[in-house]
Amino acid sequence: MSCCHTELELAQGDTAFNVDASTITYGDGCLSEAGDIAAHLGIKRIALMTDPVLATSEHVAKVEDSLKAAGVDVARYDDVRVEPTDESFQAATKFAIDARVDGFISVGGGSVIDTTKAANLYSTHPAEFLTYVNAPIGDGTPVPGPLKPHIACPTTSGTGSECTGIAVFDLLAMKAKTGIASKMIRPTRALIDPSVTLTLPPNVVAASAFDVLSHALESYTARHYHVRPAPSSPSLRPSSQGANPWSDLGCKEALKLMGKYLVRAVDSAEDVEARHQVMWAATLAGIAFGNAGCHVPHGMSYSVAGMAKNFNPDGYPLGEPIVPHGMSVIVNSPAVFRKTAVGDPTRHLEGARWLGADTSDASDADAGDLLADQIVKLMRASNMPNGLLGVGYEASDIPDLVNGSLPQRRLLDNAPIDIQREELTELYESALTYW
Ligand SMILES: NC(=O)c1ccc[n+]([C@@H]2O[C@H](COP(=O)([O-])OP(=O)(O)OC[C@H]3O[C@@H](n4cnc5c(N)ncnc54)[C@H](O)[C@@H]3O)[C@@H](O)[C@H]2O)c1
Ligand SMILES: [Fe+2]
Repeated sequence: MSCCHTELELAQGDTAFNVDASTITYGDGCLSEAGDIAAHLGIKRIALMTDPVLATSEHVAKVEDSLKAAGVDVARYDDVRVEPTDESFQAATKFAIDARVDGFISVGGGSVIDTTKAANLYSTHPAEFLTYVNAPIGDGTPVPGPLKPHIACPTTSGTGSECTGIAVFDLLAMKAKTGIASKMIRPTRALIDPSVTLTLPPNVVAASAFDVLSHALESYTARHYHVRPAPSSPSLRPSSQGANPWSDLGCKEALKLMGKYLVRAVDSAEDVEARHQVMWAATLAGIAFGNAGCHVPHGMSYSVAGMAKNFNPDGYPLGEPIVPHGMSVIVNSPAVFRKTAVGDPTRHLEGARWLGADTSDASDADAGDLLADQIVKLMRASNMPNGLLGVGYEASDIPDLVNGSLPQRRLLDNAPIDIQREELTELYESALTYW
């Protein structure tokens, strides 16, 4: 394990880390196991949650058929909002309460899985909406106990939400994203069928794959768990516990797979090997960041997505402006890793090498540029937007972007260097454009 921290820091830091993960079933065609799993979890009536685009898809049909064949009564909710909001979380919660279900199954991307976590939480432990939302925006009150069983079936190769205890949404009144973080909301089971990726539009493959790439890089370069102050009691050790030997394993493999398959997977839905390998990378990175935590690119993304002005990329619902999550993250990543490399050059160089850069003659001083340049190369090859200007922002928006991301301390404090207002301003300036 590489570590550049002082003995004083180590003496004050934590001495142990947790390994938490959902129980995962992974493989081609496994969506048809949904009914058997639900029945064995004792579910009699299940809420099947999805979004309007997927509602008529073969993936949802396969899951519903399997549930019905196993004798499970199905209550369908097809109205999950892509990039959910506090309002859409509450609409899904109302459905869950009215439907009187004893379990949940989500079939969709991160938007659907996160909405299902929220509907499960608020219908099982009713409370004012901000009660469980992360402080300082919400009250950050701990979830009082277990939820109903939730089987998560991801249909994008991206968020890893099926393995995490996080639900992200846009708080409309603040025009910023925030989330709920609790191990209690982690899905009970994940059913990951890589064949779902064959119907994904190229832009969704690209955006969600760059989300994966950044999950892995952020978790690998996060401050080491030894450096985070020890919790007052072991049960309070956070999921954002910092880089650790367990999360390192998933990050390393995910980054190698991204270096090899990301561009291929975006280029062709016929490239089954590439699409499947990107799904496997998403799974590994999801397990990793669920046990380490992301840092600054995700912290900055929350205001980039929340303040969306006029951007409406192909592959996403038309109508309201939307900066899809993966794009809102990756427009920040090159600027961030160029700057954070000084905190742990070895890990930044390793990341660059696994993504395909030639690091043979590189010194520590080259680490930030090499990693940033390699990410930019992959972004250009996948038609990603060119920085913040590419998703509709201007330099004059930077003070608002900074204000929106400054409260994200859970993420910012997980970085390998200190991040305050001044650093965030500089990072948004560097992220305006890359080529
Ligand atoms: N909870 C977490 O740990 C976590 C982590 C990262 C991101 N997120 C959140 O997840 C959301 C983004 O999720 P996402 O990137 O998975 O995308 P998404 O769920 O927003 O879906 C994007 C689009 O792709 C479509 N789609 C999904 N699967 C498809 C398929 N197989 N075939 C055809 N079309 C398909 C959807 O209908 C939608 O239009 C954001 O709200 C983000 O904040 C959560
Ligand atoms: Fe993410």
